[in-house]
Amino acid sequence: MPTPNLSGFSASLGGASRGVSKHCIFPFPCYITAMALVCVEDFEKKAAGQLEKNALDYYRSGAGEQFTLGLNREAFRRLRLRPRCLRDVSRLDISCHIFGEQMKWPLGIAPTAMQKMAHPEGEVANARAAGKAGSIFILSTLSTTSLEDLATGAPDTIKWFQLYIYKDRTITEKLVRRAEKANFKALVLTIDAPIFGHRRADVRNNFSLPSHLTLANFQGVKATGVGNAAMGASGINAYVSSQFDPTITWKDIAWLKGITHLPIVVKGVLTAEDAVLAQEFGCAGLIVSNHGARQIDTVPASIEALPEIVEAVGENLVVMLDGGIMQGNDIFKALALGAKTVFVGRPAVWGLAYNGQKGVEEMLSVLRKDFEITMALIGCQTLGDITSAMVAHESQYAKL
Ligand SMILES: Cc1cc2nc3c(=O)[nH]c(=O)nc-3n(C[C@H](O)[C@H](O)[C@H](O)COP(=O)(O)O)c2cc1C
Repeated sequence: MPTPNLSGFSASLGGASRGVSKHCIFPFPCYITAMALVCVEDFEKKAAGQLEKNALDYYRSGAGEQFTLGLNREAFRRLRLRPRCLRDVSRLDISCHIFGEQMKWPLGIAPTAMQKMAHPEGEVANARAAGKAGSIFILSTLSTTSLEDLATGAPDTIKWFQLYIYKDRTITEKLVRRAEKANFKALVLTIDAPIFGHRRADVRNNFSLPSHLTLANFQGVKATGVGNAAMGASGINAYVSSQFDPTITWKDIAWLKGITHLPIVVKGVLTAEDAVLAQEFGCAGLIVSNHGARQIDTVPASIEALPEIVEAVGENLVVMLDGGIMQGNDIFKALALGAKTVFVGRPAVWGLAYNGQKGVEEMLSVLRKDFEITMALIGCQTLGDITSAMVAHESQYAKL
């Protein structure tokens, strides 16, 4: 019987060989095995044990009462898979192309700010792991590694740069020039953050960037000690409200297009109406995203918003998605509903906090194997075999 080429599956379970005791009191070899990390939740638990409260709360929290934070995951569970059988899945090819760049599989790493709080090697470690896995890495404007240092540290990774539009447009323009020069392949304009959402934990903690770190794309910007819990602003919030331009409109996309040759991806689209505007204003792609549920609570889960957006612009724009991806099934469901690729934010931070570059590599390997298993068991050899009929909403089965 042919076996699916689940490349390196045994390697991903390699954690089971760690922790062999050399001091066994029993007269036979005694292998006390450390538990292998087999799912993203395992990495999350490890990370939670290692991070300071200020950082852990910052990374994990969502906006308001965090309804959408739970929904981002719950909505995937409401979708049922409809596997097809007897379809020769002995050879899987899960590679794909985005803007002409080859990815080994349809998953990249979303921009998350200030990754050196998770691990001293921060963004470089995360980006190197992405490169090894054949994934895109998106660097946040609010990174603790400058875009030049990231380019030098992870030269072989496909890199995109996430952008905010500053009140002072020359700051934005300089960032664009630097991204072009450092060989970033696309600009990801985050459009769901004219101001930052209300994240209660950050306000309670009066969150600020630890004093040894800086927002490395801007010399001297520390974003420390500027938080004011009494005024409801965390440290980073104070920076954002003083610098980001809340007056921006779709016309600013036209301005951005006019100053760069890089493809523009808008991130944070949740409605068909905005997807149509993204197309009208000449964006090359969009990311269906609710910013990891960190901006406004009770918006739909990204996966819930995906179908109307694909229906509106799926033929003309590269539609991508992030939010709540935790396992191979989730990646499959997003692709079946029309996303060309997905991104993960927190899962990469958990891998990074757990064990730097190796931790992210291990997390990505676990996710990839899980996706390969899903592909094989649903009867798909290539991404082109995935169809919308392979996913159904639970309501379709509710009559039973
Ligand atoms: C700690 C943290 C920081 C983030 N920082 C940024 C950022 O700087 N820019 C941005 O566009 N999105 C940012 N995001 C949103 C992510 O890019 C992404 O949309 C989200 O994390 C996806 O959800 P997931 O964490 O469930 O995978 C951040 C998310 C988290 C959790």
